[in-house]
Amino acid sequence: MSRASLDKQPRDVAAMFDDVAERYDVTNDVLSLGQDRLWRRAVLKAVDAKPGERVLDIAAGTGTSSEPFADTGVHVVPADFSLGMLRVGKERRDDLGFTAADAMRLPFADASFDAVTMSFGLRNVADIDAALREFARVSKPGGRLVVCEFSQPVNGAFRKVYSEYLMEALPRVARKVSSNPESYVYLAESIQAWPDQRALATRVAAAGWGSVEWRNLSGGIVALHRAVKSA
Ligand SMILES: C[S@@+](CC[C@H](N)C(=O)[O-])C[C@H]1O[C@@H](n2cnc3c(N)ncnc32)[C@H](O)[C@@H]1O
Repeated sequence: MSRASLDKQPRDVAAMFDDVAERYDVTNDVLSLGQDRLWRRAVLKAVDAKPGERVLDIAAGTGTSSEPFADTGVHVVPADFSLGMLRVGKERRDDLGFTAADAMRLPFADASFDAVTMSFGLRNVADIDAALREFARVSKPGGRLVVCEFSQPVNGAFRKVYSEYLMEALPRVARKVSSNPESYVYLAESIQAWPDQRALATRVAAAGWGSVEWRNLSGGIVALHRAVKSA
């Protein structure tokens, strides 16, 4: 069983997700205490896709983040570089059109999507600035970006309790439910090392996106960053 380290070598990250693929969705539900369903609804609302629009869900994994789009009739393209995650997704929802793709070098034409969304993927990418620039390249002028990622709880006391959950309780629970508990130690460490809401917004803007804003979910455990590609 493999886990990635914080330098996030693409080969290690893809292998780690290959290992957790079979039990990924059930483990997610348990570890997030069911909050993940609420976060997915918020992403759908923030992307606000209109009928006929094309949405790229990059780092879609098993497609759980793409399903809400497909289920409302939006043309969503779920893409990921873990073939293991794509295989599990394809077994479950063959209609989704899963595509192998690396966020840092997307196999899509310039200006080919109305929106790009990424849920719980950016934190795992080795060069997030390169990925954010790629998202701008494949977006049409006026296209939207919505990044859903773990972030920093805004309340100091809650932040302390959450940090203890992350570093102590979460790895213990993962040992019971995950096929690769070590990868959940990586999850906890990578969340702690991730830029906070403001710092991530600055990186998004520096990659060529305009009107960058964010919204906290579950007290800032998760943040949704939204931006628009200038016309
Ligand atoms: C935590 S899962 C999230 C899956 C899905 N979006 C969801 O919300 O359930 C993170 C996914 O990011 C993918 N990933 C990480 N780095 C990537 C990259 N550079 N290109 C494409 N996918 C990547 C992993 O393979 C994994 O499937």
